[in-house]
Amino acid sequence: MSDTTVMDKLVSLTKRRGYIFQSSEIYGGAGSVWDYGPLGAELKRNVKDLWWSRMVHQREDIEGLDAAILMHPKVWEASGHVEGFTDPLVECTNCHRRFRADLEGVEAGQCPVCGTKDAFTEPRNFNLMFRTFMGPVEDAGAQVYLRPETAQGIYVNFLNVQGTARQKVPFGIAQIGKAFRNEITPGNFIFRTREFEQAEMQYFVKPGTDEEWFEFWKADRMEWHRSLGIREENLRFHEHGPDELAHYAKKAFDIEYRFPFGWKEFEGIHNRTDFDLARHQEYSGKRLEYIDPGGGERFIPYVVETSLGVDRVLLVLLADAYREEEVEGEERVVLALHPRLAPVKAAVFPLVKKEGLPEMARKLQEGLRRASIPSFYDESGSIGRRYRRQDEAGTPWCVTVDGQSAEDGSVTIRDRDTLEQIRVAMDQVAPWIRERLVDSE
Ligand code: GAP
Repeated sequence: MSDTTVMDKLVSLTKRRGYIFQSSEIYGGAGSVWDYGPLGAELKRNVKDLWWSRMVHQREDIEGLDAAILMHPKVWEASGHVEGFTDPLVECTNCHRRFRADLEGVEAGQCPVCGTKDAFTEPRNFNLMFRTFMGPVEDAGAQVYLRPETAQGIYVNFLNVQGTARQKVPFGIAQIGKAFRNEITPGNFIFRTREFEQAEMQYFVKPGTDEEWFEFWKADRMEWHRSLGIREENLRFHEHGPDELAHYAKKAFDIEYRFPFGWKEFEGIHNRTDFDLARHQEYSGKRLEYIDPGGGERFIPYVVETSLGVDRVLLVLLADAYREEEVEGEERVVLALHPRLAPVKAAVFPLVKKEGLPEMARKLQEGLRRASIPSFYDESGSIGRRYRRQDEAGTPWCVTVDGQSAEDGSVTIRDRDTLEQIRVAMDQVAPWIRERLVDSE
Protein backbone atom coordinates (compact mmCIF):
# COMPACT_ATOMS: atom_id res chain seq x y z
CA MET A 1 0.00 0.00 0.00
CA SER A 2 1.48 3.37 -0.95
CA ASP A 3 1.86 6.14 1.64
CA THR A 4 -0.71 8.34 -0.05
CA THR A 5 -3.15 5.44 -0.13
CA VAL A 6 -2.84 4.97 3.64
CA MET A 7 -3.50 8.66 4.26
CA ASP A 8 -6.42 8.69 1.77
CA LYS A 9 -7.87 5.65 3.50
CA LEU A 10 -7.52 7.28 6.91
CA VAL A 11 -9.17 10.49 5.72
CA SER A 12 -12.05 8.55 4.24
CA LEU A 13 -12.47 6.18 7.20
CA THR A 14 -12.43 9.00 9.74
CA LYS A 15 -15.06 10.86 7.74
CA ARG A 16 -17.23 7.76 7.20
CA ARG A 17 -17.20 6.85 10.88
CA GLY A 18 -17.70 10.37 12.23
CA TYR A 19 -14.21 11.04 13.52
CA ILE A 20 -13.08 14.03 11.46
CA PHE A 21 -14.83 16.34 8.98
CA GLN A 22 -13.48 19.17 6.91
CA SER A 23 -14.37 22.51 8.50
CA SER A 24 -17.22 24.36 6.71
CA GLU A 25 -17.49 21.48 4.26
CA ILE A 26 -20.77 22.73 2.74
CA TYR A 27 -18.89 25.85 1.59
CA GLY A 28 -16.07 23.84 0.07
CA GLY A 29 -14.00 23.69 3.26
CA ALA A 30 -11.87 26.20 5.15
CA GLY A 31 -8.12 26.03 4.47
CA SER A 32 -6.57 23.27 6.57
CA VAL A 33 -9.00 23.39 9.45
CA TRP A 34 -10.82 20.29 10.65
CA ASP A 35 -13.79 19.48 12.85
CA TYR A 36 -14.07 16.47 15.13
CA GLY A 37 -17.31 14.51 14.84
CA PRO A 38 -18.93 12.37 17.56
CA LEU A 39 -16.20 9.72 17.66
CA GLY A 40 -13.35 12.17 17.06
CA ALA A 41 -14.53 14.41 19.89
CA GLU A 42 -14.55 11.40 22.24
CA LEU A 43 -11.10 10.26 21.14
CA LYS A 44 -9.68 13.74 21.59
CA ARG A 45 -11.29 14.07 25.01
CA ASN A 46 -9.89 10.68 26.05
CA VAL A 47 -6.37 11.70 25.00
CA LYS A 48 -6.61 15.00 26.86
CA ASP A 49 -8.08 13.34 29.96
CA LEU A 50 -5.28 10.75 30.04
CA TRP A 51 -2.65 13.47 29.63
CA TRP A 52 -4.23 15.64 32.35
CA SER A 53 -4.53 12.69 34.69
CA ARG A 54 -0.88 11.75 34.22
CA MET A 55 0.45 15.31 34.39
CA VAL A 56 -1.80 16.94 36.97
CA HIS A 57 -3.86 14.44 38.97
CA GLN A 58 -1.17 11.85 39.49
CA ARG A 59 1.54 14.33 40.51
CA GLU A 60 1.92 16.53 43.55
CA ASP A 61 4.29 18.90 41.81
CA ILE A 62 2.19 19.97 38.79
CA GLU A 63 -0.75 22.39 38.80
CA GLY A 64 -3.30 22.95 36.03
CA LEU A 65 -4.09 26.23 34.30
CA ASP A 66 -6.55 27.45 31.69
CA ALA A 67 -5.26 30.77 30.39
CA ALA A 68 -6.96 32.93 27.75
CA ILE A 69 -6.09 32.75 24.06
CA LEU A 70 -5.92 36.54 23.73
CA MET A 71 -3.11 38.13 25.71
CA HIS A 72 -1.48 41.52 26.08
CA PRO A 73 0.38 42.17 22.77
CA LYS A 74 3.60 42.86 24.66
CA VAL A 75 3.67 39.19 25.66
CA TRP A 76 4.57 38.32 22.08
CA GLU A 77 7.26 40.97 21.89
CA ALA A 78 8.82 39.64 25.07
CA SER A 79 8.55 36.03 23.93
CA GLY A 80 10.36 36.84 20.69
CA HIS A 81 7.44 35.78 18.49
CA VAL A 82 6.83 39.22 16.93
CA GLU A 83 10.41 39.36 15.76
CA GLY A 84 11.35 35.76 15.23
CA PHE A 85 8.32 33.51 14.71
CA THR A 86 8.66 33.51 10.96
CA ASP A 87 9.05 31.15 8.05
CA PRO A 88 10.85 32.07 4.83
CA LEU A 89 8.27 32.63 2.09
CA VAL A 90 8.69 32.72 -1.68
CA GLU A 91 6.20 33.42 -4.45
CA CYS A 92 6.15 31.79 -7.87
CA THR A 93 6.09 34.67 -10.38
CA ASN A 94 4.27 32.46 -12.88
CA CYS A 95 1.29 31.10 -10.88
CA HIS A 96 1.58 33.50 -7.90
CA ARG A 97 1.29 30.69 -5.36
CA ARG A 98 3.29 31.11 -2.15
CA PHE A 99 5.43 28.46 -0.50
CA ARG A 100 7.82 27.92 2.35
CA ALA A 101 11.26 28.42 0.86
CA ASP A 102 12.59 25.37 2.73
CA LEU A 103 9.95 23.03 1.27
CA GLU A 104 11.29 20.05 -0.65
CA GLY A 105 11.21 20.86 -4.38
CA VAL A 106 10.90 24.60 -3.75
CA GLU A 107 14.43 24.51 -2.36
CA ALA A 108 15.54 23.08 -5.70
CA GLY A 109 13.86 25.97 -7.52
CA GLN A 110 10.81 24.28 -9.05
CA CYS A 111 7.22 25.38 -8.37
CA PRO A 112 5.25 22.40 -6.97
CA VAL A 113 2.00 23.71 -8.53
CA CYS A 114 2.81 24.92 -12.07
CA GLY A 115 6.23 23.29 -12.44
CA THR A 116 7.97 26.50 -13.57
CA LYS A 117 11.68 26.51 -12.76
CA ASP A 118 13.65 29.32 -11.17
CA ALA A 119 10.70 31.71 -11.04
CA PHE A 120 10.61 32.32 -7.30
CA THR A 121 10.90 35.73 -5.68
CA GLU A 122 13.61 36.30 -3.06
CA PRO A 123 12.60 34.73 0.30
CA ARG A 124 11.05 37.09 2.83
CA ASN A 125 10.21 36.43 6.45
CA PHE A 126 6.54 35.73 7.01
CA ASN A 127 5.24 35.96 10.59
CA LEU A 128 3.02 33.00 11.44
CA MET A 129 0.91 34.73 14.09
CA PHE A 130 -2.71 35.54 13.30
CA ARG A 131 -3.49 39.17 13.99
CA THR A 132 -6.78 40.74 14.97
CA PHE A 133 -8.07 43.80 16.87
CA MET A 134 -9.26 44.11 20.44
CA GLY A 135 -12.27 46.43 20.73
CA PRO A 136 -14.03 48.57 18.11
CA VAL A 137 -11.04 50.56 16.84
CA GLU A 138 -8.98 48.81 14.21
CA ASP A 139 -5.67 50.60 14.55
CA ALA A 140 -2.15 49.51 15.41
CA GLY A 141 -2.70 50.23 19.13
CA ALA A 142 -5.57 47.71 19.25
CA GLN A 143 -3.72 44.91 17.49
CA VAL A 144 -3.59 41.59 19.33
CA TYR A 145 -2.55 38.09 18.36
CA LEU A 146 -4.11 34.66 18.57
CA ARG A 147 -1.59 32.74 20.66
CA PRO A 148 0.78 30.57 18.59
CA GLU A 149 1.65 28.46 21.68
CA THR A 150 -0.07 27.99 25.03
CA ALA A 151 3.22 28.24 26.97
CA GLN A 152 3.18 32.04 27.38
CA GLY A 153 -0.07 31.93 29.38
CA ILE A 154 1.84 29.76 31.84
CA TYR A 155 4.88 32.04 32.11
CA VAL A 156 2.85 35.18 32.80
CA ASN A 157 0.96 33.29 35.53
CA PHE A 158 4.06 31.68 37.02
CA LEU A 159 3.99 33.63 40.30
CA ASN A 160 0.16 33.58 40.57
CA VAL A 161 0.15 29.79 40.43
CA GLN A 162 3.25 29.28 42.55
CA GLY A 163 1.94 31.56 45.29
CA THR A 164 -1.67 30.35 45.38
CA ALA A 165 -0.82 26.66 45.10
CA ARG A 166 2.11 27.11 47.53
CA GLN A 167 4.41 25.13 45.26
CA LYS A 168 8.16 25.04 45.66
CA VAL A 169 10.65 24.78 42.81
CA PRO A 170 10.85 22.28 41.16
CA PHE A 171 7.21 22.31 40.11
CA GLY A 172 5.23 22.46 36.90
CA ILE A 173 2.18 24.10 35.34
CA ALA A 174 0.16 22.22 32.74
CA GLN A 175 -2.43 23.45 30.30
CA ILE A 176 -4.36 22.25 27.29
CA GLY A 177 -5.71 24.72 24.78
CA LYS A 178 -6.00 26.03 21.27
CA ALA A 179 -3.10 27.58 19.40
CA PHE A 180 -3.10 29.23 15.98
CA ARG A 181 -0.44 29.52 13.31
CA ASN A 182 -0.93 30.96 9.87
CA GLU A 183 1.12 28.17 8.31
CA ILE A 184 2.27 28.87 4.76
CA THR A 185 2.07 25.23 3.78
CA PRO A 186 -0.32 23.32 6.01
CA GLY A 187 -1.25 19.80 5.07
CA ASN A 188 -1.17 16.08 5.61
CA PHE A 189 -4.69 16.09 7.06
CA ILE A 190 -4.61 17.06 10.76
CA PHE A 191 -0.80 16.99 10.91
CA ARG A 192 -0.18 20.66 10.12
CA THR A 193 -3.19 22.91 10.47
CA ARG A 194 -3.80 26.57 11.19
CA GLU A 195 -5.87 25.98 14.31
CA PHE A 196 -4.81 23.19 16.63
CA GLU A 197 -4.61 22.17 20.24
CA GLN A 198 -1.55 21.82 22.43
CA ALA A 199 -1.06 20.02 25.74
CA GLU A 200 1.92 21.78 27.28
CA MET A 201 3.67 21.55 30.62
CA GLN A 202 6.31 23.97 31.83
CA TYR A 203 8.49 22.60 34.63
CA PHE A 204 10.28 25.28 36.67
CA VAL A 205 13.62 24.17 38.10
CA LYS A 206 16.66 25.57 39.83
CA PRO A 207 19.33 26.55 37.26
CA GLY A 208 21.93 23.82 37.19
CA THR A 209 19.34 21.04 37.65
CA ASP A 210 17.76 21.68 34.24
CA GLU A 211 19.71 19.00 32.34
CA GLU A 212 18.73 16.33 34.83
CA TRP A 213 15.07 17.33 34.63
CA PHE A 214 15.30 17.45 30.85
CA GLU A 215 16.33 13.78 30.81
CA PHE A 216 13.54 12.93 33.24
CA TRP A 217 10.81 14.50 31.11
CA LYS A 218 12.23 13.16 27.89
CA ALA A 219 11.98 9.60 29.24
CA ASP A 220 8.61 10.17 30.92
CA ARG A 221 6.94 11.50 27.79
CA MET A 222 8.20 8.65 25.61
CA GLU A 223 6.97 6.18 28.20
CA TRP A 224 3.49 7.78 28.08
CA HIS A 225 3.27 7.30 24.33
CA ARG A 226 4.22 3.66 24.71
CA SER A 227 1.53 3.27 27.37
CA LEU A 228 -1.05 4.37 24.79
CA GLY A 229 -0.12 1.34 22.73
CA ILE A 230 1.84 3.18 20.01
CA ARG A 231 4.17 0.64 18.42
CA GLU A 232 7.76 0.92 19.58
CA GLU A 233 9.20 0.60 16.08
CA ASN A 234 7.27 3.70 15.00
CA LEU A 235 8.66 5.95 17.74
CA ARG A 236 12.03 7.64 18.03
CA PHE A 237 13.78 10.74 19.37
CA HIS A 238 15.32 13.38 17.18
CA GLU A 239 17.73 15.88 18.69
CA HIS A 240 17.65 19.40 17.25
CA GLY A 241 20.89 20.53 15.67
CA PRO A 242 22.05 24.15 16.22
CA ASP A 243 20.25 25.34 13.07
CA GLU A 244 16.95 23.73 14.13
CA LEU A 245 16.73 25.08 17.68
CA ALA A 246 13.90 27.55 18.36
CA HIS A 247 14.95 31.02 19.51
CA TYR A 248 14.18 30.14 23.16
CA ALA A 249 15.82 26.70 23.36
CA LYS A 250 19.19 25.60 24.64
CA LYS A 251 18.43 21.95 23.91
CA ALA A 252 15.49 20.24 22.23
CA PHE A 253 14.42 16.71 21.41
CA ASP A 254 11.42 15.83 19.27
CA ILE A 255 9.47 12.67 19.76
CA GLU A 256 8.88 11.50 16.22
CA TYR A 257 6.44 9.04 14.70
CA ARG A 258 6.88 7.13 11.47
CA PHE A 259 3.86 8.63 9.63
CA PRO A 260 2.85 7.26 6.22
CA PHE A 261 4.62 10.40 4.86
CA GLY A 262 7.82 9.88 6.86
CA TRP A 263 9.31 10.42 10.35
CA LYS A 264 7.90 13.64 11.81
CA GLU A 265 7.67 15.35 15.19
CA PHE A 266 4.52 15.22 17.29
CA GLU A 267 5.90 16.28 20.69
CA GLY A 268 8.81 18.51 21.67
CA ILE A 269 10.85 18.50 24.88
CA HIS A 270 12.66 21.83 25.24
CA ASN A 271 15.13 23.31 27.68
CA ARG A 272 13.97 26.94 27.51
CA THR A 273 16.42 28.09 30.21
CA ASP A 274 15.27 31.33 31.90
CA PHE A 275 14.69 32.90 28.48
CA ASP A 276 10.93 33.44 28.80
CA LEU A 277 10.72 34.48 32.46
CA ALA A 278 13.72 36.80 32.12
CA ARG A 279 12.21 38.43 29.04
CA HIS A 280 8.81 38.86 30.72
CA GLN A 281 10.55 40.38 33.73
CA GLU A 282 12.35 42.80 31.42
CA TYR A 283 9.30 43.73 29.31
CA SER A 284 6.74 43.93 32.14
CA GLY A 285 9.02 45.51 34.69
CA LYS A 286 7.69 43.00 37.27
CA ARG A 287 10.03 40.75 39.23
CA LEU A 288 9.54 37.13 38.26
CA GLU A 289 12.09 35.67 40.63
CA TYR A 290 11.51 32.75 42.90
CA ILE A 291 12.65 33.06 46.50
CA ASP A 292 13.89 29.79 47.91
CA PRO A 293 12.12 29.34 51.29
CA GLY A 294 15.16 27.42 52.59
CA GLY A 295 18.09 29.78 52.10
CA GLY A 296 16.22 32.85 50.83
CA GLU A 297 18.16 32.60 47.58
CA ARG A 298 16.51 34.47 44.67
CA PHE A 299 16.64 33.19 41.13
CA ILE A 300 14.74 33.07 37.86
CA PRO A 301 13.92 29.39 37.36
CA TYR A 302 14.90 27.49 34.26
CA VAL A 303 12.10 25.82 32.34
CA VAL A 304 11.88 22.33 30.87
CA GLU A 305 8.91 22.22 28.54
CA THR A 306 6.96 19.26 27.19
CA SER A 307 4.81 20.32 24.24
CA LEU A 308 2.40 17.84 22.68
CA GLY A 309 0.20 18.54 19.65
CA VAL A 310 -3.17 17.04 20.52
CA ASP A 311 -4.35 16.81 16.90
CA ARG A 312 -1.01 15.42 15.85
CA VAL A 313 -1.02 12.71 18.48
CA LEU A 314 -4.53 11.84 17.30
CA LEU A 315 -3.14 11.30 13.81
CA VAL A 316 -0.38 9.16 15.34
CA LEU A 317 -2.93 7.07 17.23
CA LEU A 318 -5.20 6.65 14.20
CA ALA A 319 -2.34 5.80 11.83
CA ASP A 320 -0.82 3.36 14.30
CA ALA A 321 -4.14 1.66 14.98
CA TYR A 322 -5.16 1.28 11.31
CA ARG A 323 -4.99 -2.35 10.11
CA GLU A 324 -6.26 -4.25 7.11
CA GLU A 325 -6.66 -7.94 7.86
CA GLU A 326 -8.21 -11.06 6.43
CA VAL A 327 -10.61 -12.84 8.74
CA GLU A 328 -12.34 -16.06 7.67
CA GLY A 329 -11.68 -15.27 4.03
CA GLU A 330 -13.09 -11.75 4.33
CA GLU A 331 -11.15 -8.52 4.51
CA ARG A 332 -11.69 -6.31 7.52
CA VAL A 333 -10.44 -2.86 8.45
CA VAL A 334 -9.70 -2.38 12.14
CA LEU A 335 -8.81 0.59 14.26
CA ALA A 336 -7.00 -1.24 17.03
CA LEU A 337 -7.19 1.69 19.45
CA HIS A 338 -6.23 1.13 23.07
CA PRO A 339 -9.53 0.44 24.95
CA ARG A 340 -8.98 3.49 27.15
CA LEU A 341 -8.81 5.66 24.03
CA ALA A 342 -11.61 4.02 22.05
CA PRO A 343 -14.53 6.46 21.69
CA VAL A 344 -17.15 3.71 22.09
CA LYS A 345 -16.23 0.95 24.52
CA ALA A 346 -19.03 -1.50 23.67
CA ALA A 347 -21.53 -2.02 20.90
CA VAL A 348 -24.71 -3.86 21.84
CA PHE A 349 -26.54 -6.01 19.30
CA PRO A 350 -29.61 -8.21 19.37
CA LEU A 351 -28.71 -11.21 17.18
CA VAL A 352 -32.10 -10.94 15.45
CA LYS A 353 -34.86 -8.34 15.51
CA LYS A 354 -37.43 -10.63 17.14
CA GLU A 355 -38.15 -12.88 20.13
CA GLY A 356 -37.73 -9.97 22.52
CA LEU A 357 -33.97 -9.71 21.84
CA PRO A 358 -33.98 -5.97 20.89
CA GLU A 359 -35.75 -5.14 24.18
CA MET A 360 -33.18 -7.12 26.18
CA ALA A 361 -30.31 -5.52 24.28
CA ARG A 362 -31.72 -2.02 24.85
CA LYS A 363 -32.05 -2.76 28.56
CA LEU A 364 -28.46 -3.93 28.66
CA GLN A 365 -27.32 -0.77 26.90
CA GLU A 366 -29.31 1.31 29.36
CA GLY A 367 -27.25 -0.33 32.14
CA LEU A 368 -24.02 0.60 30.36
CA ARG A 369 -25.22 4.16 30.00
CA ARG A 370 -26.01 4.33 33.72
CA ALA A 371 -22.47 3.05 34.39
CA SER A 372 -21.11 5.87 32.14
CA ILE A 373 -19.66 3.42 29.64
CA PRO A 374 -19.92 4.91 26.14
CA SER A 375 -21.86 2.39 24.05
CA PHE A 376 -23.70 2.06 20.78
CA TYR A 377 -26.83 0.08 19.91
CA ASP A 378 -27.15 -1.49 16.47
CA GLU A 379 -29.75 -3.89 15.13
CA SER A 380 -29.42 -3.27 11.40
CA GLY A 381 -27.74 -5.65 8.97
CA SER A 382 -26.16 -9.05 9.49
CA ILE A 383 -24.15 -9.63 12.64
CA GLY A 384 -20.99 -9.85 10.50
CA ARG A 385 -21.61 -6.41 9.02
CA ARG A 386 -22.30 -4.97 12.42
CA TYR A 387 -18.98 -6.38 13.69
CA ARG A 388 -17.14 -4.87 10.70
CA ARG A 389 -18.63 -1.44 11.30
CA GLN A 390 -17.51 -1.51 14.92
CA ASP A 391 -14.04 -2.83 14.00
CA GLU A 392 -13.62 0.18 11.72
CA ALA A 393 -14.84 2.53 14.44
CA GLY A 394 -12.33 1.05 16.90
CA THR A 395 -14.88 -0.38 19.38
CA PRO A 396 -13.06 -2.96 21.51
CA TRP A 397 -16.05 -5.08 22.53
CA CYS A 398 -19.29 -6.17 20.85
CA VAL A 399 -21.97 -7.57 23.13
CA THR A 400 -24.62 -9.76 21.50
CA VAL A 401 -27.94 -10.78 22.98
CA ASP A 402 -29.04 -14.10 21.47
CA GLY A 403 -31.50 -16.95 22.01
CA GLN A 404 -29.56 -18.30 24.97
CA SER A 405 -29.76 -14.89 26.70
CA ALA A 406 -33.51 -15.35 27.19
CA GLU A 407 -32.89 -18.74 28.79
CA ASP A 408 -29.94 -18.12 31.12
CA GLY A 409 -29.40 -14.32 31.12
CA SER A 410 -25.96 -14.57 29.49
CA VAL A 411 -24.63 -12.67 26.44
CA THR A 412 -21.54 -13.03 24.25
CA ILE A 413 -18.72 -10.50 24.33
CA ARG A 414 -16.53 -10.50 21.25
CA ASP A 415 -13.04 -9.04 21.44
CA ARG A 416 -12.12 -6.76 18.51
CA ASP A 417 -8.46 -7.84 18.40
CA THR A 418 -8.46 -11.55 19.28
CA LEU A 419 -11.97 -12.20 17.88
CA GLU A 420 -12.53 -14.48 20.86
CA GLN A 421 -16.04 -14.71 22.20
CA ILE A 422 -16.95 -15.43 25.79
CA ARG A 423 -20.27 -15.68 27.60
CA VAL A 424 -20.90 -13.32 30.50
CA ALA A 425 -23.98 -12.80 32.66
CA MET A 426 -25.88 -9.77 31.43
CA ASP A 427 -25.64 -7.95 34.76
CA GLN A 428 -21.87 -8.51 34.76
CA VAL A 429 -21.18 -6.80 31.42
CA ALA A 430 -20.62 -3.31 32.88
CA PRO A 431 -18.27 -4.50 35.67
CA TRP A 432 -16.47 -6.76 33.14
CA ILE A 433 -15.77 -3.75 30.89
CA ARG A 434 -14.85 -1.45 33.80
CA GLU A 435 -12.37 -4.00 35.09
CA ARG A 436 -10.65 -4.22 31.70
CA LEU A 437 -10.51 -0.45 31.31
CA VAL A 438 -8.86 -0.11 34.72
CA ASP A 439 -6.46 -3.02 34.05
CA SER A 440 -5.36 -1.44 30.77
CA GLU A 441 -4.30 1.82 32.48
N1 GAP B 1 5.65 25.76 23.13
C1 GAP B 1 6.56 25.11 22.27
C2 GAP B 1 6.02 24.86 20.95
O1 GAP B 1 4.95 25.34 20.60
P1 GAP B 1 6.48 23.57 18.72
O2 GAP B 1 7.51 22.52 18.43
O3 GAP B 1 6.38 24.75 17.83
O4 GAP B 1 6.79 24.02 20.22
C3 GAP B 1 4.82 21.85 19.72
O5 GAP B 1 5.07 22.88 18.81
C4 GAP B 1 3.88 20.83 19.13
O6 GAP B 1 2.69 21.47 18.67
C5 GAP B 1 4.43 20.11 17.89
O7 GAP B 1 5.20 18.99 18.25
C6 GAP B 1 3.15 19.68 17.19
O8 GAP B 1 2.67 18.48 17.75
C7 GAP B 1 2.17 20.79 17.53
N2 GAP B 1 2.05 21.72 16.40
C8 GAP B 1 2.85 22.76 16.09
N3 GAP B 1 2.42 23.38 14.98
C9 GAP B 1 1.33 22.70 14.56
C10 GAP B 1 0.43 22.85 13.46
N4 GAP B 1 0.54 23.83 12.57
N5 GAP B 1 -0.59 21.96 13.34
C11 GAP B 1 -0.75 20.96 14.25
N6 GAP B 1 0.06 20.79 15.30
C12 GAP B 1 1.09 21.64 15.46
